[in-house]
Amino acid sequence: MSRRALRPVFKRLWLLAPVVTLGVGCSSTWGCDFDKNSGPRTFALPATLNDGGVPTQDTPCEDLCEALGATTPCSRIAKGEGGAEADMVTCEASVLCEGRRPEGLCSDGAVAAEVPPLGALFARMAHLEAASVPAFERLADELAGHGAPERLVRAARRAAKDEVRHASAMESLALRQGAPMPELKVAPFQPRSLEALAIENAVEGCVRETFGALLAGWQARSAEDAQVRESLGAIAPDELMHAELSWAIDAWAMEQLSPEARERVDAARREAWRELERNAVTSHLPDDVARLSGLPAADVARRLVRELAAELMPGALA
Ligand SMILES: [Fe+2]
Ligand SMILES: [Fe+2]
Repeated sequence: MSRRALRPVFKRLWLLAPVVTLGVGCSSTWGCDFDKNSGPRTFALPATLNDGGVPTQDTPCEDLCEALGATTPCSRIAKGEGGAEADMVTCEASVLCEGRRPEGLCSDGAVAAEVPPLGALFARMAHLEAASVPAFERLADELAGHGAPERLVRAARRAAKDEVRHASAMESLALRQGAPMPELKVAPFQPRSLEALAIENAVEGCVRETFGALLAGWQARSAEDAQVRESLGAIAPDELMHAELSWAIDAWAMEQLSPEARERVDAARREAWRELERNAVTSHLPDDVARLSGLPAADVARRLVRELAAELMPGALA
């Protein structure tokens, strides 16, 4: 995936983002039940379970949620209950928050339950930006160690500095909403092979950070909070360059690897697209948090994942 190929895709998808028409400021009250980084959401039953079976009336809700890529606690809703038109299940759903995570990341960016939900979202985003700093620092060192072109090493070091700025910008948004910066814990790195580096770059860079770049540009257009638009508007071009760097590293690394290793990298990348789609499907934000942050609803997020995957890895989500 060349620089020339990635930019037109982003340009086309960013133009789908609804442009905010109201200069709405930030409110300090969020009367909703959004709990930190996840919350309950109601789903139609999955067609199949993870063991290949078909859901029945006796299938535990835990198995249904697992098949949906969601988590527990959960509960089943029978057809007719509360006006439900079909059997449904309520699971915990995730917040769509994507970026490059380092191996050994031990913290999850969660903040105290009493923190307002918009602040909790920005705290999680700030945590992810901060986690990208050691990810790129390690990547730069490893690229140098594996004899990668100097332009890739330099770009990875520049990206680490970008991520320091991004973390600071997101921390400001979080603090403004009463959320502290979450503690970042990363286990010490161990030496690893070029194949392991390539697999991490394929998953964390070519899929997660690339989609994160798309989300940043989306939020820069759609967030009703002007400061969010401004912050994400500054971050999005950097993230697009990070996405391009991921693909440039991928192109170089794949040239060095055996055909068998390349297949393993592509298998990991394919699975990462699938996981990203599952995360999109189960993502959930209260309406006011979604409006102010500019994050897309689950159905739109899923469409974006599928369109991006179709462009960057045709067949991955067929
Ligand atoms: Fe970033
Ligand atoms: Fe980044």
